[in-house]
Amino acid sequence: MGDLTIVRSVADLRTQITAWRKQGKTIAFVPTMGALHEGHLSLIKLGHERADKVCVSLFVNPKQFGPNEDFEVYPRDEQADIGQLEGVGTNLLYAPDVTEIYPDGHTTSLTVGPIADILEGECRPGFFTGVATVVSKLLLQVLPDIAIFGEKDFQQLQVIRKVVKDMDIPVDIVGGPTVRERDGLALSSRNAYLSDEERAVASKLHHTLQGIAKAVTENQNIDTLLSVAVEELKASGFGDVDYLAVRDATTLQAVTDLNKPNRVLVAATLGKTRLIDNIAI
Ligand code: PAJ
Repeated sequence: MGDLTIVRSVADLRTQITAWRKQGKTIAFVPTMGALHEGHLSLIKLGHERADKVCVSLFVNPKQFGPNEDFEVYPRDEQADIGQLEGVGTNLLYAPDVTEIYPDGHTTSLTVGPIADILEGECRPGFFTGVATVVSKLLLQVLPDIAIFGEKDFQQLQVIRKVVKDMDIPVDIVGGPTVRERDGLALSSRNAYLSDEERAVASKLHHTLQGIAKAVTENQNIDTLLSVAVEELKASGFGDVDYLAVRDATTLQAVTDLNKPNRVLVAATLGKTRLIDNIAI
Protein backbone atom coordinates (compact mmCIF):
# COMPACT_ATOMS: atom_id res chain seq x y z
CA MET A 1 0.00 0.00 0.00
CA GLY A 2 1.01 3.64 -0.09
CA ASP A 3 1.00 4.23 -3.87
CA LEU A 4 -1.67 6.93 -3.62
CA THR A 5 -1.69 9.35 -6.56
CA ILE A 6 -3.17 12.78 -5.86
CA VAL A 7 -4.69 14.93 -8.60
CA ARG A 8 -6.44 18.29 -8.33
CA SER A 9 -7.62 19.04 -11.87
CA VAL A 10 -10.09 17.36 -14.22
CA ALA A 11 -7.30 17.14 -16.83
CA ASP A 12 -4.92 15.23 -14.53
CA LEU A 13 -7.78 13.05 -13.32
CA ARG A 14 -8.64 12.07 -16.90
CA THR A 15 -5.01 11.35 -17.76
CA GLN A 16 -4.80 8.80 -14.93
CA ILE A 17 -8.20 7.26 -15.67
CA THR A 18 -7.37 6.97 -19.39
CA ALA A 19 -4.08 5.22 -18.59
CA TRP A 20 -5.93 2.66 -16.46
CA ARG A 21 -8.55 2.15 -19.16
CA LYS A 22 -5.79 1.41 -21.69
CA GLN A 23 -4.55 -1.30 -19.30
CA GLY A 24 -8.08 -2.74 -19.16
CA LYS A 25 -8.57 -1.85 -15.48
CA THR A 26 -12.03 -1.42 -13.94
CA ILE A 27 -12.62 1.57 -11.67
CA ALA A 28 -14.69 2.11 -8.53
CA PHE A 29 -15.40 5.66 -7.37
CA VAL A 30 -16.19 6.82 -3.81
CA PRO A 31 -17.14 10.50 -3.49
CA THR A 32 -16.59 12.09 -0.05
CA MET A 33 -16.33 15.43 1.71
CA GLY A 34 -13.36 14.25 3.78
CA ALA A 35 -13.15 14.00 7.58
CA LEU A 36 -12.86 10.33 6.79
CA HIS A 37 -13.90 7.61 9.23
CA GLU A 38 -14.49 3.85 9.14
CA GLY A 39 -17.80 4.42 7.30
CA HIS A 40 -16.00 5.99 4.34
CA LEU A 41 -13.21 3.41 4.53
CA SER A 42 -15.74 0.56 4.35
CA LEU A 43 -16.92 1.94 0.98
CA ILE A 44 -13.33 2.05 -0.28
CA LYS A 45 -12.79 -1.57 0.81
CA LEU A 46 -15.98 -2.52 -1.04
CA GLY A 47 -14.54 -0.73 -4.08
CA HIS A 48 -11.41 -2.90 -3.95
CA GLU A 49 -13.62 -6.01 -3.90
CA ARG A 50 -15.56 -4.87 -6.95
CA ALA A 51 -12.96 -3.17 -9.18
CA ASP A 52 -9.23 -3.09 -9.98
CA LYS A 53 -8.68 0.56 -8.98
CA VAL A 54 -10.39 2.79 -6.42
CA CYS A 55 -10.67 6.55 -6.90
CA VAL A 56 -11.87 8.72 -3.99
CA SER A 57 -12.88 12.36 -4.32
CA LEU A 58 -12.52 14.84 -1.47
CA PHE A 59 -14.54 17.97 -2.03
CA VAL A 60 -16.58 19.91 0.52
CA ASN A 61 -19.34 20.99 -1.84
CA PRO A 62 -20.53 24.52 -1.03
CA LYS A 63 -23.69 24.07 -3.14
CA GLN A 64 -25.17 21.47 -0.79
CA PHE A 65 -24.92 23.58 2.36
CA GLY A 66 -27.70 26.00 3.28
CA PRO A 67 -26.90 29.58 4.40
CA ASN A 68 -27.27 28.62 8.09
CA GLU A 69 -25.47 25.28 7.81
CA ASP A 70 -21.95 24.23 8.76
CA PHE A 71 -19.98 24.78 5.50
CA GLU A 72 -17.44 27.12 7.15
CA VAL A 73 -16.79 24.87 10.13
CA TYR A 74 -17.15 21.48 8.39
CA PRO A 75 -14.12 19.45 9.63
CA ARG A 76 -11.22 19.63 7.14
CA ASP A 77 -7.91 17.81 7.62
CA GLU A 78 -6.50 16.69 4.29
CA GLN A 79 -3.28 15.22 5.72
CA ALA A 80 -5.22 13.00 8.13
CA ASP A 81 -7.52 11.95 5.27
CA ILE A 82 -4.55 11.07 3.05
CA GLY A 83 -3.15 8.86 5.82
CA GLN A 84 -6.48 7.02 6.07
CA LEU A 85 -6.73 6.64 2.29
CA GLU A 86 -3.20 5.18 2.12
CA GLY A 87 -4.07 2.80 4.94
CA VAL A 88 -6.77 1.14 2.84
CA GLY A 89 -4.78 1.13 -0.41
CA THR A 90 -6.71 3.84 -2.27
CA ASN A 91 -5.21 4.28 -5.74
CA LEU A 92 -6.28 7.81 -6.65
CA LEU A 93 -7.38 10.86 -4.68
CA TYR A 94 -9.15 13.60 -6.61
CA ALA A 95 -9.14 16.71 -4.42
CA PRO A 96 -10.19 19.67 -6.59
CA ASP A 97 -10.47 23.30 -5.54
CA VAL A 98 -13.86 24.97 -5.59
CA THR A 99 -12.87 26.84 -8.77
CA GLU A 100 -12.12 23.56 -10.56
CA ILE A 101 -15.67 22.30 -9.92
CA TYR A 102 -17.46 25.65 -10.15
CA PRO A 103 -15.39 27.97 -12.35
CA ASP A 104 -16.62 31.53 -12.81
CA GLY A 105 -19.76 31.48 -14.88
CA HIS A 106 -20.89 27.98 -13.87
CA THR A 107 -24.69 28.14 -13.66
CA THR A 108 -26.18 24.73 -14.50
CA SER A 109 -27.79 22.68 -11.76
CA LEU A 110 -29.96 19.56 -11.57
CA THR A 111 -33.48 19.52 -10.14
CA VAL A 112 -34.32 15.93 -9.29
CA GLY A 113 -38.07 15.91 -8.65
CA PRO A 114 -40.38 14.45 -5.98
CA ILE A 115 -37.92 12.04 -4.33
CA ALA A 116 -35.67 15.00 -3.53
CA ASP A 117 -38.42 17.27 -2.20
CA ILE A 118 -39.42 15.18 0.83
CA LEU A 119 -37.68 14.27 4.14
CA GLU A 120 -34.14 15.72 3.92
CA GLY A 121 -35.13 17.75 0.87
CA GLU A 122 -37.97 19.40 2.76
CA CYS A 123 -35.78 20.25 5.77
CA ARG A 124 -32.79 21.37 3.70
CA PRO A 125 -34.04 23.25 0.61
CA GLY A 126 -31.51 23.05 -2.21
CA PHE A 127 -29.56 20.25 -0.56
CA PHE A 128 -30.30 17.55 -3.13
CA THR A 129 -29.91 19.97 -6.03
CA GLY A 130 -26.40 20.62 -4.69
CA VAL A 131 -25.70 16.92 -4.22
CA ALA A 132 -27.14 15.91 -7.61
CA THR A 133 -25.20 18.64 -9.40
CA VAL A 134 -21.84 17.84 -7.86
CA VAL A 135 -22.24 14.06 -8.01
CA SER A 136 -23.25 14.12 -11.68
CA LYS A 137 -20.24 16.33 -12.46
CA LEU A 138 -17.90 14.05 -10.53
CA LEU A 139 -19.33 10.93 -12.21
CA LEU A 140 -18.84 12.48 -15.65
CA GLN A 141 -15.31 13.55 -14.75
CA VAL A 142 -14.23 10.13 -13.41
CA LEU A 143 -16.49 7.92 -15.60
CA PRO A 144 -16.07 4.92 -13.25
CA ASP A 145 -17.63 1.48 -13.72
CA ILE A 146 -19.25 1.67 -10.31
CA ALA A 147 -19.80 4.43 -7.75
CA ILE A 148 -20.35 3.56 -4.10
CA PHE A 149 -22.52 5.47 -1.62
CA GLY A 150 -23.40 4.71 1.99
CA GLU A 151 -26.84 3.59 3.09
CA LYS A 152 -26.22 5.95 6.03
CA ASP A 153 -27.52 8.66 3.70
CA PHE A 154 -30.26 6.48 2.30
CA GLN A 155 -32.27 9.18 0.57
CA GLN A 156 -29.09 10.52 -1.03
CA LEU A 157 -28.35 7.02 -2.37
CA GLN A 158 -31.84 6.75 -3.88
CA VAL A 159 -31.68 10.30 -5.29
CA ILE A 160 -28.40 9.46 -7.01
CA ARG A 161 -29.84 6.23 -8.45
CA LYS A 162 -32.63 8.39 -9.91
CA VAL A 163 -30.22 11.00 -11.34
CA VAL A 164 -28.06 8.35 -13.00
CA LYS A 165 -31.10 6.67 -14.50
CA ASP A 166 -32.76 9.88 -15.70
CA MET A 167 -29.53 11.35 -17.11
CA ASP A 168 -28.24 8.08 -18.68
CA ILE A 169 -24.94 8.30 -16.82
CA PRO A 170 -23.28 4.94 -17.56
CA VAL A 171 -22.35 3.81 -14.05
CA ASP A 172 -23.62 1.20 -11.60
CA ILE A 173 -24.59 2.72 -8.24
CA VAL A 174 -23.74 0.47 -5.30
CA GLY A 175 -24.95 0.98 -1.71
CA GLY A 176 -22.70 0.10 1.23
CA PRO A 177 -24.05 -0.84 4.68
CA THR A 178 -23.93 1.71 7.52
CA VAL A 179 -20.93 1.37 9.84
CA ARG A 180 -21.82 2.00 13.50
CA GLU A 181 -20.19 2.57 16.86
CA ARG A 182 -20.55 -0.29 19.34
CA ASP A 183 -23.62 1.32 20.89
CA GLY A 184 -25.33 1.66 17.49
CA LEU A 185 -24.63 5.32 16.66
CA ALA A 186 -23.97 5.60 12.92
CA LEU A 187 -20.49 6.96 12.23
CA SER A 188 -20.66 10.52 10.89
CA SER A 189 -18.17 13.34 10.45
CA ARG A 190 -20.68 15.48 12.39
CA ASN A 191 -20.50 13.24 15.50
CA ALA A 192 -17.37 15.25 16.30
CA TYR A 193 -19.66 18.14 17.23
CA LEU A 194 -21.35 16.17 20.07
CA SER A 195 -20.49 16.90 23.70
CA ASP A 196 -19.85 13.93 26.02
CA GLU A 197 -23.37 14.21 27.43
CA GLU A 198 -24.93 14.37 23.98
CA ARG A 199 -22.82 11.46 22.82
CA ALA A 200 -24.20 9.37 25.69
CA VAL A 201 -27.79 9.75 24.43
CA ALA A 202 -27.08 9.79 20.67
CA SER A 203 -27.39 6.01 20.26
CA LYS A 204 -31.04 6.29 21.31
CA LEU A 205 -31.68 7.27 17.68
CA HIS A 206 -30.66 3.85 16.37
CA HIS A 207 -32.47 1.99 19.13
CA THR A 208 -35.64 3.91 18.27
CA LEU A 209 -35.34 2.81 14.64
CA GLN A 210 -34.83 -0.80 15.70
CA GLY A 211 -37.90 -0.69 17.91
CA ILE A 212 -40.04 0.74 15.11
CA ALA A 213 -38.77 -1.73 12.50
CA LYS A 214 -39.60 -4.64 14.79
CA ALA A 215 -43.04 -3.31 15.73
CA VAL A 216 -43.92 -2.67 12.06
CA THR A 217 -43.12 -6.29 11.21
CA GLU A 218 -45.48 -7.24 14.07
CA ASN A 219 -48.21 -5.24 12.33
CA GLN A 220 -48.53 -2.56 15.00
CA ASN A 221 -50.11 0.75 13.99
CA ILE A 222 -47.39 2.85 12.33
CA ASP A 223 -48.75 6.33 13.16
CA THR A 224 -49.08 5.49 16.86
CA LEU A 225 -45.59 3.99 16.94
CA LEU A 226 -44.08 7.07 15.34
CA SER A 227 -45.75 9.61 17.62
CA VAL A 228 -44.81 7.68 20.77
CA ALA A 229 -41.22 7.37 19.52
CA VAL A 230 -40.93 11.12 18.82
CA GLU A 231 -42.00 11.87 22.40
CA GLU A 232 -39.48 9.35 23.73
CA LEU A 233 -36.65 10.91 21.73
CA LYS A 234 -37.52 14.36 23.07
CA ALA A 235 -37.77 13.02 26.63
CA SER A 236 -34.28 11.55 26.33
CA GLY A 237 -32.74 14.88 25.32
CA PHE A 238 -33.27 15.33 21.58
CA GLY A 239 -34.59 18.68 20.38
CA ASP A 240 -36.48 18.95 17.09
CA VAL A 241 -37.30 15.69 15.37
CA ASP A 242 -37.38 16.88 11.75
CA TYR A 243 -38.92 13.62 10.61
CA LEU A 244 -39.40 10.06 11.74
CA ALA A 245 -41.06 8.10 8.96
CA VAL A 246 -41.69 4.65 7.57
CA ARG A 247 -41.48 4.73 3.78
CA ASP A 248 -41.25 2.59 0.66
CA ALA A 249 -37.50 1.98 0.27
CA THR A 250 -37.38 2.79 -3.45
CA THR A 251 -39.63 5.84 -3.81
CA LEU A 252 -39.44 7.05 -0.18
CA GLN A 253 -43.16 7.81 -0.51
CA ALA A 254 -45.83 6.31 1.78
CA VAL A 255 -45.70 2.55 2.34
CA THR A 256 -47.98 0.71 -0.07
CA ASP A 257 -47.13 -2.88 0.77
CA LEU A 258 -45.63 -4.22 3.99
CA ASN A 259 -44.16 -7.13 2.02
CA LYS A 260 -42.11 -4.81 -0.20
CA PRO A 261 -38.77 -3.36 1.02
CA ASN A 262 -39.55 -0.49 3.40
CA ARG A 263 -37.30 1.76 5.42
CA VAL A 264 -37.59 3.73 8.66
CA LEU A 265 -35.76 7.07 8.52
CA VAL A 266 -35.08 9.77 11.09
CA ALA A 267 -33.48 13.21 11.40
CA ALA A 268 -33.24 14.89 14.79
CA THR A 269 -31.15 17.53 16.50
CA LEU A 270 -29.15 16.88 19.61
CA GLY A 271 -27.90 20.18 21.00
CA LYS A 272 -26.54 21.99 17.93
CA THR A 273 -25.89 18.80 15.96
CA ARG A 274 -28.31 17.36 13.43
CA LEU A 275 -28.16 13.56 13.20
CA ILE A 276 -29.74 11.29 10.59
CA ASP A 277 -30.11 7.52 10.47
CA ASN A 278 -32.23 4.81 8.87
CA ILE A 279 -32.61 1.03 8.76
CA ALA A 280 -34.37 -1.55 6.64
CA ILE A 281 -37.66 -3.06 7.82
P1 PAJ B 1 -19.85 12.43 3.09
O1 PAJ B 1 -20.78 12.86 4.16
O2 PAJ B 1 -18.39 12.68 3.26
O3 PAJ B 1 -20.07 10.91 2.84
C1 PAJ B 1 -19.38 10.24 1.80
C2 PAJ B 1 -19.97 8.85 1.66
O4 PAJ B 1 -19.75 8.11 2.87
C3 PAJ B 1 -21.50 8.89 1.43
O5 PAJ B 1 -21.85 7.95 0.42
C4 PAJ B 1 -22.03 8.50 2.79
O6 PAJ B 1 -23.32 7.89 2.73
C5 PAJ B 1 -20.98 7.53 3.26
N1 PAJ B 1 -21.03 7.34 4.73
C6 PAJ B 1 -21.04 8.31 5.70
N2 PAJ B 1 -21.15 7.75 6.92
C7 PAJ B 1 -21.20 6.41 6.74
C8 PAJ B 1 -21.33 5.28 7.61
N3 PAJ B 1 -21.41 5.43 8.93
N4 PAJ B 1 -21.36 4.04 7.07
C9 PAJ B 1 -21.27 3.87 5.72
N5 PAJ B 1 -21.14 4.89 4.83
C10 PAJ B 1 -21.12 6.14 5.34
O7 PAJ B 1 -22.33 12.24 1.44
C11 PAJ B 1 -21.49 13.08 1.12
O8 PAJ B 1 -20.25 13.16 1.71
C12 PAJ B 1 -21.73 14.10 0.03
O9 PAJ B 1 -23.11 14.41 -0.04
C13 PAJ B 1 -21.22 13.64 -1.37
C14 PAJ B 1 -21.95 12.37 -1.86
C15 PAJ B 1 -19.71 13.41 -1.34
C16 PAJ B 1 -21.51 14.76 -2.42
O10 PAJ B 1 -20.90 15.96 -2.04
